[in-house]
Amino acid sequence: MKIQHDISLKSYNTFGIDVKAKHFISVTSINELLEVLKLEENSDIFILGGGSNMLLTQDINTLVVHVNLKGISIVSDDEDHVIINVKAGENWHDFVCWCLEHDFGGLENLSLIPGNVGTAPIQNIGAYGVELKDHFVSCEALNVYSREIKTFTKSECHFDYRNSIFKQELKGSYIICSVTFKLTKRAHVLHTSYGTIQNELDHMEITNPNIQDISKAVVTIRKSKLPDPKEIGNSGSFFKNPVIDKLAFQKLAEKFEDIPSYIVSENEIKVPAGWLIEKAGFKGKRFDNYGVHKKQALVLVNYGGANGDDILNLSKLIQNTILRIFGIEIEAEVNII
Ligand code: EPU
Repeated sequence: MKIQHDISLKSYNTFGIDVKAKHFISVTSINELLEVLKLEENSDIFILGGGSNMLLTQDINTLVVHVNLKGISIVSDDEDHVIINVKAGENWHDFVCWCLEHDFGGLENLSLIPGNVGTAPIQNIGAYGVELKDHFVSCEALNVYSREIKTFTKSECHFDYRNSIFKQELKGSYIICSVTFKLTKRAHVLHTSYGTIQNELDHMEITNPNIQDISKAVVTIRKSKLPDPKEIGNSGSFFKNPVIDKLAFQKLAEKFEDIPSYIVSENEIKVPAGWLIEKAGFKGKRFDNYGVHKKQALVLVNYGGANGDDILNLSKLIQNTILRIFGIEIEAEVNII
């Protein structure tokens, strides 16, 4: 275990923000993690996973602990299902590809989402009609104070849209070490109705898709809309899609006839923040070396060399403008550090 000092975190966050960690350690086992927690008993630490859902606006003056636990193992299986345990430091998309190679179904709609397996439950990642919670069994997490490992069942995680107990009451209290999933081995349930998946399959001339085809369609759609963090720094959707009450929505729809919407409950409607941002004129706007992605207005981008405050200020400008035009508050989805 080696502690490094004054290192740049640029390659550890998908926004590519160049801030420094005063101290940095990458841990590859739970024992190492326990050792670090013991050593740092009286000081704050900063836990870093895949760095794909954060905007760093300042240097980190504490110890940054990079959770780099690796391993995928089959816990049990029967004819229909397989239970798989995955260590937190595994890259999410690599894990999805591993599942596809083994013909294990369930996560194909979540292909190409940046980040690591251990951080995926924190915001209950989701795309194209599937959320992590749909295939989640449990996760093992280490309490940073008591240094005890607890297994969280699905109901204990309080999963919701881009939300979980790890983003709320237990924020900063636990380090997720591994996640257990239940996937199908046969009779895979395909989700093709969301968004443009079906169009993409038609375009691919596939009439009887398998899970690998769905993944290919999702990868194609994502690549066409979302910037690759290796090329342009970004953190995926910067904002959550707001949920507003039905009456407020009806009033808006009178003024903006083309406003898209999804019913959440009898009295609640979800509105795509991407549409609001585009309508407000921000789509594709570039300010110096940062801006709003030209193909998906929900994504803020760092063209290289931007600092976190520039992007944070842009996000505030967008929030204020949306509030002024539509009377809707949009909330950041990424963690601002
Ligand atoms: N839209 C616009 N302009 C834009 C972007 C979107 O008008 O610039 C409209 C589209 O026309 C469409 C609607 O907004 O009617 C929804 O767009 P899209 O299908 O691209 O999905 P989204 O709501 O913008 C969400 C997730 C994405 C996920 C996609 C697909 C959130 C915050 N974002 O985006 O997740 O990939 O659905 O399931 O829920 C992420 O979380 O990082 C992420 C990329």
